[in-house]
Amino acid sequence: MSSRIPRQFIDELLVRVDIVDLIDSHLPLKKTGNSFVARCPFHVEKSPSFSVSRKKQFFHCFGCGASGNAISFLMDFSHLDFVEAVEDLAGFAGVEVPRESIEYQSGQKKGDLNSLYVLMEQVAAFYMEQLRTSDEGKKAAEYLKNRGVSGNCASDFMLGYAPDEWKALAGRFNQKLLIEAGLLVSSENGQIYDRFRGRIMFPIRDKRGRIIGFGGRVLDNSLPKYLNSPETSLFHKGKEVYGLYELLEKDAKPQRILIVEGYMDVIALAQFGIHYSVAALGTAASQAHLDLLFRFSSELVFCFDGDKAGREAAWRAMEPAFSSLKDGRQIRIMLLPQNQDPDSLVREEGVDGFISRMQTAETLSEFFFGHFSNELNLSEMEGRAQLVSKVKPYLEKMPESVFKEMMFARLKELSGWVSLDVLENAATFASKQSLKQAPRAAGRKGPQDNGRLSSARVAIALLVQNPRLAEVLEQREIDWSELEFSGVTLFKNILQMIADKNPANAAVLVECYRGAAEEKSIKALALLDSQVSDDKIDAVFFDSLDRLLIQARETALTRLLNKGKAEGLDAEEKEALRKMLATK
Ligand code: CTP
Ligand code: MN
Repeated sequence: MSSRIPRQFIDELLVRVDIVDLIDSHLPLKKTGNSFVARCPFHVEKSPSFSVSRKKQFFHCFGCGASGNAISFLMDFSHLDFVEAVEDLAGFAGVEVPRESIEYQSGQKKGDLNSLYVLMEQVAAFYMEQLRTSDEGKKAAEYLKNRGVSGNCASDFMLGYAPDEWKALAGRFNQKLLIEAGLLVSSENGQIYDRFRGRIMFPIRDKRGRIIGFGGRVLDNSLPKYLNSPETSLFHKGKEVYGLYELLEKDAKPQRILIVEGYMDVIALAQFGIHYSVAALGTAASQAHLDLLFRFSSELVFCFDGDKAGREAAWRAMEPAFSSLKDGRQIRIMLLPQNQDPDSLVREEGVDGFISRMQTAETLSEFFFGHFSNELNLSEMEGRAQLVSKVKPYLEKMPESVFKEMMFARLKELSGWVSLDVLENAATFASKQSLKQAPRAAGRKGPQDNGRLSSARVAIALLVQNPRLAEVLEQREIDWSELEFSGVTLFKNILQMIADKNPANAAVLVECYRGAAEEKSIKALALLDSQVSDDKIDAVFFDSLDRLLIQARETALTRLLNKGKAEGLDAEEKEALRKMLATK
């Protein structure tokens, strides 16, 4: 993106749009009591557990836990990234998205980017034309035919041919734009010439179908076999995959996405009717790649060579995967036979053979624990202890989910290890779940819950849901700094955020925390049903705070009295104690 969307615009947009209208326009809602419900669009269900609150401007599914504000809804429902979702929402509200004038990084203006996209389109068309009409190009077409690529398939992927000339592009298009697009190279002596010469050209498209870069393959055994566009203001290798647009054209919600290595693998598979593969562009799949692909499908299958290098590459690719593994998402690892890639394998074994290999591919958990079981001797205690210390960091990266629990359970089973840590982990998870899902969690007392926690939770949740309380709080001249309870840091953090950003409602406040460490907690608090009716909010809020304040003072008092008995107090502490006893 060439410039930023002003924060204030986003906040105002969230106030202007009513989330009920927005969601209703995508998914008809039914009114029941204070909320609007529907069958959840994010998981399969028979009875509606997806609910939208007009007051909080928030949606929440009691079934699968999906939740968020209007922007999050569009991101999840329409598979958009953040900026696209804001643009969509602005469109719904009928307003233009303003851009801050400060330009960062590339210093590109939006207009310049548009002319780059237009240029890329023209260059791709030129290459396609060359493939069809020039003598050289016909040789390239012959090469493709020999590799089993049909004319249809070549045109689906907009395959082309770059003539073996130094200035085929330079002589036809705007030189400055060609340089910005990465299509020209300048040599040490200042000569400028075409980057791609005598190669079959593979345009790389983003998910909206705009051409952002190219890959090019030679027709013989010369090196380098492939050449790719460099990083430009359009093209970021770490974020894009080859074949996604073409895949989505065939199926917007594929059951699974297969991740392969090469351009020709994607094309050969598509030729055989397996149109749901993409290739990471000569790099290992990154976190950004996984997040992108999981927006379109809940199952990713990685293809790797079956040799040692392939297994190692598979292992490296799995590392970033753990933090993406929410419930319902699945990763499989498909190891290929020696000296085969998907292109050669599908030709040799046919579609059915290939698909059955894919369906029986190892799951991530099998692959993951298998990797360690091979590496360590689990019949010895030392090996099992190492297993725990190696595996735990990965599992801890996973978002809270049933799957995470199961991975921990498997680790316990393999290592024979039961420790407090794991039990604690499970307990925090359970309490988070009840906060999210049980309507009366705020009032209920668990075994560890001494009542203090409840007051604190109620106070923080009411603050998140009614940011205006911060102002009322300020008017009360009480030294809130004395407050001391579990969660007080978060409470103060929220107060500060409200003071800084002045959010109009809970949805805007949650938006302020997007991507921050506190985001998850704030979301859970926004969803907490405190069972407080609107006219009692202020009273309950201040009552909870008063109770917390009294508890904090008592704790401080006991601490001072104990210290006095044990080792005596200094002058300052004595003064504090006198004050406390006087106000009591
Ligand atoms: N690659 C690259 N640069 C190279 C070699 C490879 O960017 N010099 C990337 C390309 O994306 C390529 C992928 O790595 O598609 C896999 O490379 P390789 O296995 O060598 O090629 P194949 O895809 O099998 O190509 P082909 O079947 O055309 O020989
Ligand atoms: Mn190949």
